[in-house]
Amino acid sequence: KKKLILDVDTGVDDAQGIMLALAAPNVEILGITCSHGNTPLENVLKNTLRVLKVCGRLDIPVYRGSSDPVLARKKHAGDYHGVDGLGDVPDGDAPGLELLQKEKAAQAMVKIVKQNPGEVTLVAMAPLTNLAIAVQLDPSLPKKLKALYIMGGNTQSRGNTTSCGEFNFVTDPEAAYIVLDRYTCPTYIAAWEFTCKNCLPWSFHDQWLSHKSEKAAFMKKISNYSVEKARSEGYQKETTEGQGFNACDAYAVAAAVDDTLITEKEEVAVSVELGGNYTRGMMVLDYMELLKKQHKVTIMKKIDLEKFKQMLIRAVK
Ligand code: BDR
Ligand code: CA
Repeated sequence: KKKLILDVDTGVDDAQGIMLALAAPNVEILGITCSHGNTPLENVLKNTLRVLKVCGRLDIPVYRGSSDPVLARKKHAGDYHGVDGLGDVPDGDAPGLELLQKEKAAQAMVKIVKQNPGEVTLVAMAPLTNLAIAVQLDPSLPKKLKALYIMGGNTQSRGNTTSCGEFNFVTDPEAAYIVLDRYTCPTYIAAWEFTCKNCLPWSFHDQWLSHKSEKAAFMKKISNYSVEKARSEGYQKETTEGQGFNACDAYAVAAAVDDTLITEKEEVAVSVELGGNYTRGMMVLDYMELLKKQHKVTIMKKIDLEKFKQMLIRAVK
């Protein structure tokens, strides 16, 4: 089985990513590490446990990560995911935080990877703070990883949070910089424009969530808020050729779960802008190789959408 660690800031698409991984028969989730991001850390912890509860998988260890970016000011995405990160639908029955592991996220990453050298794939769906801290704790961590999948960054200077910046990178640019600099393991990036270009028709979305199961009902309930927003405000209009359902984080998870999912890709060295009046947090693609970086990442360009749909369907069954 593939061994995964998921790093999340559980909002709606993180929930989709987690559920997709849980439903994959070839995957073992060794731990879920939580980060500030879509919503403050305390909500992320609760949301992650809520998702695991619906899937009957509260046995998976969940770790408390960083509540703040490395240097930047905190920023959340309540206007899209709802203030609580999961569409602001009350849940009187949410699991309590006493279920969390005592160990902190970055320490747990280091420990789990050390115990399974060369076997762990890390999937990052949040600001990269926990990963940046983990590599400071253990600089040899990337060498021991099998691969790293990141949902984040942008490839054509199209943002979703600032004009040029994608949320996960903009929220903690220093962490993104550290990660792209030090994680020299095979790295795959599902950037914002890629997710927009590979979005799915709303008709698929509606059919998907009309499935009769507790998981589908949960997903429908928590995504009402963001789906309404996406549809009514023409979200993504300026950033994509087509409009549709964008399960951002789930793309990174799906690619980690199935090596054959990516059908078109590109290899290039990347970094992150840390200054700039308009561009702080923007991913920089060094096609001219001026940065003299040895390490190139794989930028995802196209995936097998039929396979992806099947994985999403399996996630709510
Ligand atoms: C990313 O930002 C968050 O709001 C989403 O969960 C996703 O990880 C998309 O830019
Ligand atoms: Ca996320």
